[in-house]
Amino acid sequence: MSVFGSVRLGLGERGYDVVVGRDLLAEADKHVGPLLARPQVAVVTDANVEKLHLATLTAALARGGIRAHTIVLPAGEETKSFAQLEKLLDKLLEARIERSDTILALGGGVIGDITGFAAATLRRGTPVIQVPTTLLAQVDAAIGGKTGIDTRHGKNLVGAFHQPRLVLSDVGVLDTLPRRELLAGYAEVVKYGLLGDARFFSWLEQNGRQVITGDVAARNYAVLTSARMKVEIVQGDERESGARALLNLGHTFAHALETELGYDGRLLHGEAVAAGLVLAFELSQRLGLVKAADSARVRRHLTQIGLPAGLPAAAPASGWDPRRLLEHMRQDKKVKAGALTFILVKAIGNAYVSRDVSEADVLGVLDAELAA
Ligand code: GLY
Repeated sequence: MSVFGSVRLGLGERGYDVVVGRDLLAEADKHVGPLLARPQVAVVTDANVEKLHLATLTAALARGGIRAHTIVLPAGEETKSFAQLEKLLDKLLEARIERSDTILALGGGVIGDITGFAAATLRRGTPVIQVPTTLLAQVDAAIGGKTGIDTRHGKNLVGAFHQPRLVLSDVGVLDTLPRRELLAGYAEVVKYGLLGDARFFSWLEQNGRQVITGDVAARNYAVLTSARMKVEIVQGDERESGARALLNLGHTFAHALETELGYDGRLLHGEAVAAGLVLAFELSQRLGLVKAADSARVRRHLTQIGLPAGLPAAAPASGWDPRRLLEHMRQDKKVKAGALTFILVKAIGNAYVSRDVSEADVLGVLDAELAA
């Protein structure tokens, strides 16, 4: 077997393994088979991943005597819609997928989210296995049971917590990922070091380039270490009433930047997160919490790796406007009783949730960034 390592998310009967390694799609029958009530699954994927990886997965399932009913959705964020959810549920029902059958989500965050949500609602809850094919999904989206779709009121506003039965992360599939997407996913890897593991961040400073260029050992280690941190956080706070919010380090800034650009592809989520990580450190530094040297390290590493480190170059035609960004933050779903939520840092690897950041300080950071 090609397993590098695995980590168990301990949620009692709903616990599951996150398995990381190479060539795992080609041996999927061995991992998936023991979890099935009968040798039959539905595989949901998108048109891009279908071309690259579906045959490898279905061949492995067939070798294990597992029948696969395949459903292919259009690629892209627009797929996370009510219309596509309805079509997907229709197809699953047409295929007579029963409540004890298992649905495999083969793809990035979009496929994982909509398939997980369909599984959560199909026959009031059907098992799902996540087979993430992007770095971002392997280190974040596929783990922890958040599922959902976007609506005209905002992203991920309709959904459910529905934990998978297994997360199967084959780092080999990252070889076919466009470099820009790989880098965007890497921002979430850096996030783990910054929020809770200074040694991991130091390791990334030394080895991050190998993770990007395709070194299997480096990718295995980065994905498993990130998965382990996500597992620990979700285990302690499945429904995000406390520590799970730490996973939003950099995200209040990131969502404001993405909203301002209208999610039109100029700025990928991970690129916005990279920018947000730097801004979160700058904000913490402004509040006297973190040393300038720590902020400088974060900025340096993201720049070296090729990610935005500060307000992104991809800006609206009229340039970034701090007041408009602040307006978006006020609409953020993390706003509670009118107070903005920020994850602040005391050092690299030491983050906490704060609800008492003043708008003046947020504007101060953005204005300083624009002037730099
Ligand atoms: N992606 C953030 C979370 O799973 O909580």
